[in-house]
Amino acid sequence: MTATDTAATDTAATDPLQAGFDTTIGHGDRIEPRDWMPDGYRRTLVRQIAQHAHSEIIGMQPEGAWIGRAPSLRRKAILLAKVQDEAGHGLYLYSACETLGVSRGELTEKLISGAQKYSSIFNYPTLSYADVGTIGWLVDGAAICNQVPLCRTSFGPYGRAMIRICKEESFHQRQGYELLMTMMQGTDEQRAMVQESVNRFWWPALMMFGPPDDESPNSAQSMAWGIKRNSNDDLRQRFVDMSVPQAAALGVTFPDPELRWNDERGHHDFGQPDWDEFMQVVKGNGPCNTQRIAHRRKAHEDGAWVREAATAYAAKQASVATAGGAA
Ligand SMILES: [Fe+2]
Ligand SMILES: [Fe+2]
Repeated sequence: MTATDTAATDTAATDPLQAGFDTTIGHGDRIEPRDWMPDGYRRTLVRQIAQHAHSEIIGMQPEGAWIGRAPSLRRKAILLAKVQDEAGHGLYLYSACETLGVSRGELTEKLISGAQKYSSIFNYPTLSYADVGTIGWLVDGAAICNQVPLCRTSFGPYGRAMIRICKEESFHQRQGYELLMTMMQGTDEQRAMVQESVNRFWWPALMMFGPPDDESPNSAQSMAWGIKRNSNDDLRQRFVDMSVPQAAALGVTFPDPELRWNDERGHHDFGQPDWDEFMQVVKGNGPCNTQRIAHRRKAHEDGAWVREAATAYAAKQASVATAGGAA
């Protein structure tokens, strides 16, 4: 019987446990895997960390498609390293999720059956090489805005994974920006390619922060639990304010006629993304949803022999160790 089952069947016993949990959260301290936690807290974390892990893994696909077409050995090496980092991020996060009692195998099944989601952004195609730079700059940039506050999230393994991930994400953002800056110093055709790419990715990047606060029903509870530290709209505003001067330095514009500095607020005003499009993409009807999942499923099936061989090897090692111990 797990701690969670105990809590569910013995209501009287949950009060001191709940009080202890509330005190830890109230002090801004961390909950660790062996601590008691409410079922809802555990479920929310599993959903959020799994979705995050899946995003890292699916996010390898749009950029991975350009590894074989990178224009130089240097660009190929950078892109390869970046895509490998994303695989590593997925693994840290699946490991964090395992401490909550859910195996990586179960999570993978939920991803490829469509039962769990990943970030909507990775359902958009990468149509030109400039997209590699734009994804680094805007998509990894938006991820950093979302994830830096998560370094202080209340669940220990998640927060610790985020510290390492954020360091690598900031490298990703800079390599994207540097790539775009190089292209902007090239030919008119290259500059046009960058602007076209930014035009396609700007709105989907804003959608990465999730729906507006008044349409995000789970946010308040996540913030009360210290899982989430800032609201969707606050993070979106931070991202816009950060990106506008970077766009000016690059020499590109964002496709938003409402985007302007508001002196009174001390922030940029900006238009709303197409939230109907966002809901369609989340529901599985984006341009690449089917392709992304089919690719992930095939990779999982193609890797079955590796998992079987590793399991057989581990069993053999264990039996050798047992035989050795008995002798
Ligand atoms: Fe990542
Ligand atoms: Fe990244």
